[in-house]
Formats: sequence, structure tokens, C-alpha cells
Amino acid sequence: MADAAFQRCINPACGAEFDCGQAIFKCPRCGDLLDAQYDWDRVAVPGRLSDFGRRWATRDNRLDLSGVWRFRELLDFCPDEQKVTIGEGQTILQQNCAIAEHLGMKPDALHLQYEGLNPSGSFKDNGMTAAFSHAMMVGATSCACASTGNTSASVALYAHSCGLKCTVFIGSGRIAFGKLSQAMDYGAQTIQIAGDFDDCMRQVQAVCTELGLYLLNSLNPFRLEGQKTIMYRIIEALGWEAPDWIVVPGGNLGNSSAFGKAFLELKQLGLIDRIPRLAIINATGANTLYDLYERQGVRWNQGHIDRAKIDAHYAKLDAENYKAHTIASAIEIGRPVNLKKAIRALEICSGVVREVSDEDIMEHKAMVGRFGFGCEPASAASVAGLHLLLKEGVIAPSESVACVLTGHLLKDPDATVAYHTGINMKKATPPPVEEPKGELANRPIQVADNLDSICRVLESHTPTVARDQAPAFPSIAPLVIEH
Ligand code: F0G
Repeated sequence: MADAAFQRCINPACGAEFDCGQAIFKCPRCGDLLDAQYDWDRVAVPGRLSDFGRRWATRDNRLDLSGVWRFRELLDFCPDEQKVTIGEGQTILQQNCAIAEHLGMKPDALHLQYEGLNPSGSFKDNGMTAAFSHAMMVGATSCACASTGNTSASVALYAHSCGLKCTVFIGSGRIAFGKLSQAMDYGAQTIQIAGDFDDCMRQVQAVCTELGLYLLNSLNPFRLEGQKTIMYRIIEALGWEAPDWIVVPGGNLGNSSAFGKAFLELKQLGLIDRIPRLAIINATGANTLYDLYERQGVRWNQGHIDRAKIDAHYAKLDAENYKAHTIASAIEIGRPVNLKKAIRALEICSGVVREVSDEDIMEHKAMVGRFGFGCEPASAASVAGLHLLLKEGVIAPSESVACVLTGHLLKDPDATVAYHTGINMKKATPPPVEEPKGELANRPIQVADNLDSICRVLESHTPTVARDQAPAFPSIAPLVIEH
């Protein structure tokens, strides 16, 4: 019953409603954010979450094959025939005892949700499948987004499969090459403007209004509907039990906003008993949410957020000509568009916000790489944030935690190579070679083209250490793990 869905302004003083046949992205009356909402009495939601799990058995149905549309009654805004899918959401939640132990947790307490396993290599595909379905519904022919990289890769991929003309806006110099290469290869028109992501975000909104393009940033409420399913898959993997904590990096704050909405709806529908707590992790160099929520105490306050504090914060950034800066370029964002929705999610999930340094991000990224499938820097902010919250005693070692790893390791090879070798490809040509400083740095060993020399190096420098004999982090020498 897709007609049970509508759009509603999140500002309680406005609360204007619109049908889903419109592509408006912001409330035309007051300019605030919009939610997709449902008249749940008219949606045939299964009585138990486990009913969704049965769809694994009918995987010749393209909608059941999608890890997003498998949960379609919980995002029921679009008729089935207009739903777009390229097999997104086939991602896994994996228990990681090695990292749990390194962080001082009970071994079974930590799970990592690998969203890098999506078709374009990041969590964005969960949102794009939904937003492009809406774009099809409203007859869009041309679309655009601003991006720190992953959005552009995902938009370009889906635009191609839907036959939409696609333009992506990126800032100058900061985009990781794995992501840029995708947008170019998938045929997006790439506009690089002299500015950062926040500048791109401002421009793309103006361009979309001016030229009637369909906007695919997380301002788009239908994108966030798709991103709710990341949480459904986590609780599905835990036997339909919510963990105690969800930890997620915060950039433009679409994910965290979607997660809060997902849990509120599941609770209201009686499909879960309790809502997990949410930890949103900013990079220190892009910490608007941390500053406003933790330092200045800005709260949801039933939708009456203290706008003056937010405005003063941005006025201060302007006065100082401050630009967000972090090695985790995906979350290098000073003006997150979903700020209000994220603050609402923190209220729903009794959340906390933390900031972590670039150094911590890279150390924890290396740890995920060594003991997992790996991830890009922004994703590792979640594990670094978890570590901090464990040290603070906010998260107890026995509490169950799911960290969302938002993007694939191969998205930003330069950051990984710089960590392990000290060679910073971005600094100059030829790049300067510095001594790698990371605890887990794993530099290639230079050896002459000579069998004896190679064998000597192998015998003396690369001991094979079984997993249970591995020295405790951080004193890990070059190490090969036997599975
Ligand atoms: N992790 C990765 C890998 C990302 O690409 C992003 C956002 C985030 C985390 C933050 O998620 O915005 O929902 O808080 N990347 C966007 C982009 C901004 O343009 O690709 P968020």
C-alpha cells in the first residue's frame, strides 16, 4: 500500500504534510527537513521481524534478493514495479573476537557491520536504491549530488542503471581516488568546485532548485528510508535482538538520523522491546555535532531545538574562516545537513557523541584491517570511538556493540599506503618518504632479486604467529595470521 506514505516536516511548529509524488527535499513552508511517514494501519507489516527472514528462501525475486527491499513493508512509499535494485544490502555482521579482546571487551561482545560489501563499496547503496526508486516514481530524468566521494560513486552507479543523467559535485583536492575513479568510470559528469564539501552542498541545492534536478544527498528523506535497513540487518543477524550499542561515524548525519527513525518505528510497531543506545563519532577536525551536543548541550527538546546556538556556532566558523579537516575525508563536513534529525536520533536512542583524532582513526583502521576485512578511514572512527567509550566506562566491556563499517578499504588506498609506508602520495611529486609512525605499520621489505637474500629475510623477519599466540596490541611486529 504505497499510498499509505506521505512526507512530513520535522518542525512541530509547522508539521506540513505532502504526498510522496513530489520531489521537494525541504519543507516548502518553513525550509526544515522532511521525513517519510506512514499511516501504519494501512501497511501490511508482518507481526514478527523474523517473517522478513523467510525471504532469504525466495531469492529469485529481485526484491527479496535486495537487503533493503527484503524489508519493503517498513519503507512502503513506492510501488514494487518502480523499485530499483542492483542487489544492494548483501552485507554481513561479523563477530570479531580479536578486536574485542584488544579493546578490552568480552570476546563475543563486538560485531562489525561491513557495509563496504555493497555494490559500490559503501553503505550509500542502501539509500540510493530507495531514493532512485522515488526518482523513478516522480519521473526524474536528471539527478545531482554533492559528495565527499562515496555518494558520488553510488549515485553514478544507480543513475547509470536507471538511465538518468547524473552530475556530481566534489570539492577541490579532498576526494579519495578510489571513489573519484568510480564516479568517472560510471560516466557521471563530475564538477569540481573551488571549495569544500560544505560549499558543494550549498551549490548543489541551488542548482537542483534552479534546473529541476533530482537531489540525491541525504536531505532526500527517501534515501534515509533505505538506510534504516542497515539496522534491520544487524538485528536480524543477532537473531532479531537489538545490541546494547550501535556505533557509527558521523558526517552529514544521514545514517545516524535513519538509525534513530528505524528503531523508533520498530518500537512503535511492537517489533522490538528495547531501543539500543547510539554513539555517533565525529573526527576532531569535523566535530560540529560533538561541539553542539556534548559541549553546548543542544537537545531535541520535542523539536524545539535551540536554533540560536546552532547559528552562533556557524557564525563562529565563518568568522574564523574555519574549514573542516580530517584524514577521514568522507566525514570532512562542517555543516551537516541532517543535524536536527541526528539530534532527534540521539534523543530516541539515549545517544552520545564523541570526537576522535586522525591518529586514532588510522590506528583503529589498521586494527580492523589486520583482524577483519578492512575499511576506509571514516569507517574506523566507529571503532576508535568505541575504544574511547570503553576507556571512559560509558560502554561496559560486557555490553554488546555493533560498529558500522561504512566503506570498503579500497576506497582510499592512499591513506592506507601512507599509514603503512610513510609515503604520502598527496604531499608532493616525488612524494616524501617518512618513517611510518603507526603501531601496526606493515611496510614492504626491500630485498635484492636473489633467492638467498629473500630466504634470509623470510627466516629472520616474518615469523608466522598463530592467532592465539599473537602478541597483544600494540606491540605487533610483522605478523602473519594462520586461519
Ligand atoms: N562513512 C563513509 C565511508 C562515508 O562516505 C560517509 C559520508 C560517512 C561515513 C558519514 O555518513 O553522512 O550519514 O553521517 N559520506 C558522504 C559522501 C557525505 O558524500 O559520500 P553520514
